[in-house]
Amino acid sequence: MGVFFDNSKALLYCDNDVLSAVNLFMKRLLPISWWLAVALLAAPLSAQKPLAALPAMGWNSWNHFAGRVTDAEVRSAADQLVSTGMRDAGYIYVNLDDTWQGQRDSQGVLHPNARFPDMKSLADYVHSKGLKFGIYSSPGAKTCGGYAGSLDHETQDAGMYARWGVDYLKYDLCSFADNMRAARQQHPEDPMAEFTLMISAYRKMGAALKATGRPILYSLCEYGIDEPWKFGPGVDAQMWRTTDDINDTYARMMEIAYNQVGLEKYAGPGHWNDPDMLEIGNGGMSYDEYKTHMTLWVLLAAPLLAGNDLNTMSAADKGLLTNREAIAIDQDALGKQAARVWQRGDFSLWSKPLTGGRTAFGLINNSWQTRNIPLDLNQIGFQQGAAVHDVWADKDLGRWSAIKVIQIPKHGAALYVLSNP
Ligand code: GAL
Repeated sequence: MGVFFDNSKALLYCDNDVLSAVNLFMKRLLPISWWLAVALLAAPLSAQKPLAALPAMGWNSWNHFAGRVTDAEVRSAADQLVSTGMRDAGYIYVNLDDTWQGQRDSQGVLHPNARFPDMKSLADYVHSKGLKFGIYSSPGAKTCGGYAGSLDHETQDAGMYARWGVDYLKYDLCSFADNMRAARQQHPEDPMAEFTLMISAYRKMGAALKATGRPILYSLCEYGIDEPWKFGPGVDAQMWRTTDDINDTYARMMEIAYNQVGLEKYAGPGHWNDPDMLEIGNGGMSYDEYKTHMTLWVLLAAPLLAGNDLNTMSAADKGLLTNREAIAIDQDALGKQAARVWQRGDFSLWSKPLTGGRTAFGLINNSWQTRNIPLDLNQIGFQQGAAVHDVWADKDLGRWSAIKVIQIPKHGAALYVLSNP
């Protein structure tokens, strides 16, 4: 740029007409053309804004309704997301999981089953509430529920999703495992045969979604078996399940959380580890256990997909799901996933860097009793102490400089934001 603007020598050799033309260009037109160039460059950049810049938030039909889900329940979930304030707290995807599919016709077009009379109108309804609509399929011939998958119909299905107005696809391996086994038998010389086939199947749908021109968030579900955090970005996915299914028990939820340790380097804007959907509100855990569930999921920068019946949600469960500050930790623009700082017997400390030099800490009591857990800010990088905010109590605790002993109930959690103003 310096060379371009250094016109002084060039001007020495110019006559007056040329000089004034050059002057006009430098003074008037150059600034305009400069701004034009900036605008032209900025336009494609903003159009390229990544999908899932923050972990996706919404609701999914599977954990509560499983194979019983109907059009009416999805519409009702959309209504409830609005009336409970969940939409405004960030839960914007309404995701219909497995069991919506009917039969393919002679042209290969997949029709929804009788429980979903008009998918386009369902998507329109969801959109009319200021929400986004998600759907589910499999690269295999059958989904996990035994319904029609997308095998050999990827482009056709992706086009149909786009016409319906789908904004999110969960693509679940399921019966594609049969195709992978067959590939291994056909290519005994190739130890990567199964993996290669699977990647190509996920890539095929990723490309088909992209080709629709509609931004459709692409969520892989292959249970973490083949380290999807490594191949997910390469097949144009924005998130991937890191585990087999969650269920509504404290033991399974904690097992999944502990299995996330070490995956933090694979999470970031546009690419998220997904430890599976939330079980909060489904009734299998105590209030403290659900609080631990939410604490861990927000620290892990996990997609937050509620999986409960929103019509019967208790005030306590709604409080956990919509806690503004907990959600802000999950959705922090830095996009960091928490690391486990230490695990000492039956309690652990997790830390997630946040914007503005702040850090979120979660203390998890995995034991069967209330425990007094010492927290030494020295050991976690705050040698000069820090201002401490208790997220679940929504309370500023002032400045801590020494070791604090924190009481946490059985299976409970504490969540703090530390800063050094
Ligand atoms: C499982 C998947 C679940 C749910 C279910 C539907 O494989 O992990 O989240 O989608 O299939 O059949």
